[in-house]
Amino acid sequence: MKFAIRLLLPLLATLALADLARAEDTAAVDRGRYLARLGDCAACHTSDPARPFAGGLRMNTPIGAIYSTNITPDPLSGIGGYSLADFARALREGRAADGHWLYPAMPYPSFAKLSDADVADLYQYFQQGVQPQQQANRKADIPWPLNLRWPLGLWSALFAGGERYRDDPQRSAQWNRGAYLVQGLGHCGSCHSPRGWAFQELAQDQGDARYLGGGTLDGWHAPELRSATASGLQQWSEAELVAFLKTGHNERTAAFGAMVGAVQNSTQYFTDEDLRAVAGYLKSLGEGSGAPDLARDDGLSYRALAAGQPASTGAALYLDNCAACHRSDGRGYRNTFPQLLGNSAVLGNDPSSLISIILKGSRMAVTEGAPTGLRMPDFGWRLDDVQVAELANFLRQAWGQRAPRVSAAQVAALRGR
Ligand code: HEC
Ligand code: HEC
Ligand code: HEC
Repeated sequence: MKFAIRLLLPLLATLALADLARAEDTAAVDRGRYLARLGDCAACHTSDPARPFAGGLRMNTPIGAIYSTNITPDPLSGIGGYSLADFARALREGRAADGHWLYPAMPYPSFAKLSDADVADLYQYFQQGVQPQQQANRKADIPWPLNLRWPLGLWSALFAGGERYRDDPQRSAQWNRGAYLVQGLGHCGSCHSPRGWAFQELAQDQGDARYLGGGTLDGWHAPELRSATASGLQQWSEAELVAFLKTGHNERTAAFGAMVGAVQNSTQYFTDEDLRAVAGYLKSLGEGSGAPDLARDDGLSYRALAAGQPASTGAALYLDNCAACHRSDGRGYRNTFPQLLGNSAVLGNDPSSLISIILKGSRMAVTEGAPTGLRMPDFGWRLDDVQVAELANFLRQAWGQRAPRVSAAQVAALRGR
């Protein structure tokens, strides 16, 4: 009897340990699943929703198209053969397991900030929480010699491989969490920061005033997020920022263009605590930038429009095509049709988003909090370049607003995209 117990005890202990290890694995997979949402891995690595993370999404670059790769645990076509160290190197330094350099369409300059613990949890998820899919990677459509990958190694040496995120002890834990999310997994700067001659982001954190200073990709301008201008986030409360990232809209505006995907695939899944951290961090960037300088509304354009007597071709186009939804005072309908008054897309120095949304229209993000997905119709087929420019110029000067003029040539350049 004693003998049997002596035998049994270690066995039970081993079983209990195995159970513990399994529970820890499951917890790591669950944490990794959430981190994959924060990093929006699906946006680029899923092209067919029936085959999550199998890659194959076409992405245009200035030298030709590339395709995202299979990051499911399939041993041959995916990353089943990756060790944790291989995975960490791909994520942070942009180098695949076989040593080839990755195009920086993969946001590894941002992911370099990730903590070891988060990389390990992502690894567990991509090895154990994702269904393996057999799907060979597609070669890039880039002609020789531009398709050689070794110059990417030089690029990486110059612009990537930065340090892990380090907490700023002067700031609160919440601020540091927000900074870590925005700079690291959230890779917000990949769209919202300006890029340089080699397409590198010009700054990676708030220490440089160009960080999140605004960027333009594929005809959409991602505005500055530094709360620095009157039309920007300085006017938004933290709660409005949280609502925008959670549902895709708030009382002022709705996400459109490239931001729709970011909300749908990623930010709507952030916990409220993480969203508050992100909002707090973004609001802190505008500290000390002074009072908003929005021009006072002279009421003239509103009165003329309301009386049905538009003072210009642009105003007439607005009345005919836009005022039904955005109203003649530009205030729209709360939570339904965005307000164009004081709107960063209307007033930004870079008018790409204003022009592109008139040409192509947009559909609001479909989220758990806002499932309707209202549409803004496209007007590119109905209005020519001169008309779109006149309409844009009316908006940039309407209701007392003052923003630089747009030319028909700028419209023509965006129409082709
Ligand atoms: C903005 C688009 C984008 C996002 C977001 C993105 N990736 Fe990538 N990733 C790519 C592209 C494109 C490649 C292939 C680059 C190449 O072939 O040079 C790639 C390559 C990789 C590779 C190398 C695999 C291989 O063998 O080629 C890994 C691993 C990887 N990504 C993991 C992730 C993870 C994990 C996330 C989320 C935390 C993520 N990626 C988010 C675009 C993206
Ligand atoms: C794929 C590119 C892309 C990524 C990644 C991205 N954004 Fe955006 N974002 C845009 C574009 C384009 C706009 C302009 C359209 C709009 O206002 O919805 C925008 C708009 C916004 C706005 C509204 C600003 C205003 O003045 O109206 C906020 C806030 C914002 N983004 C926050 C974020 C945060 C936080 C992240 C990272 C978690 C992020 N974005 C990641 C492209 C992106
Ligand atoms: C049927 C209603 C409707 C009409 C007509 C309409 N819009 Fe919109 N507009 C919308 C909706 C809905 C959105 C939000 C789209 C999104 O978030 O993807 C929007 C968004 C916008 C935005 C981006 C603002 C922001 O912060 O989200 C601008 C700028 C804009 N519209 C300008 C115009 C102009 C100019 C016209 C006339 C040529 C026009 N709209 C006609 C419904 C409309």
